[in-house]
Amino acid sequence: MTLTAEQLRAFGRDGYLVVPGLVPEPLLAELTAEADALIARQPAPEGKVGFHHYFEHPSALPVAHRALRESGVLALAGELVAPLAVDLAFDHIQVATSIHGWDHSPGGGHIDGYGIEGQTEPHSFTLLAGIYLGDETEPGRGNIWVWPGSHLGHERLFRKRGVDVLMASGNGGHACMLPDPPDLGRGEPVLARRGDVLLAHYLLAHNQSGNMAGLLRRIVYYRLAAAGHPERRAATQTDALLEFAPVRAALTSPEA
Ligand SMILES: [Fe+2]
Repeated sequence: MTLTAEQLRAFGRDGYLVVPGLVPEPLLAELTAEADALIARQPAPEGKVGFHHYFEHPSALPVAHRALRESGVLALAGELVAPLAVDLAFDHIQVATSIHGWDHSPGGGHIDGYGIEGQTEPHSFTLLAGIYLGDETEPGRGNIWVWPGSHLGHERLFRKRGVDVLMASGNGGHACMLPDPPDLGRGEPVLARRGDVLLAHYLLAHNQSGNMAGLLRRIVYYRLAAAGHPERRAATQTDALLEFAPVRAALTSPEA
């Protein structure tokens, strides 16, 4: 076990966790080179500022695919959901970039898996893991924003208004756009360094922010699912910690 009881409790309380310095520099250098080669092959349209994303089959990003295990990220995610196994939820790895020149602080967050053509239910997963390739110790660098504790806010929303409330709304995963929106608290930028790892609950409201720092922001995101997630999808919407037994145990331990 690498995660401390306090880290497990923080994940349970806030819905996310930044684990510092997990990924070693040689692997970061390989990852950065692979991401930069992808960006060079498929540059953003001329003049584009702000977010620009790449969703690639894992076979097209062999270093990132290897890094999921080699860096310890998958093992760390496994510590959150044990005894369930965990792996990539879909057939993609995301390289998210943010290009200098977009001055933006998000007013609300969303959860992923909505707004997909032909879908009849959310394309949910268990948690998001991210490997930071750059310095995001200051806001305004394209940082992901999160609404701490909003995984439990979404749990309350789905319990009260049904698990299909967002699907029925037509506003994607944006609970903030519902009539009579739930109070999901205040958003804040996640601050982290190169080599840190973000672990974020699927139900955590999040959004993109602007980049005025003069650098291209890059991060590698993995959407992970506990084994058997599709069969318990609806249940995870009304019981946010259903797949996170170690987190639940830490929150109910005597020192919690
Ligand atoms: Fe998202």
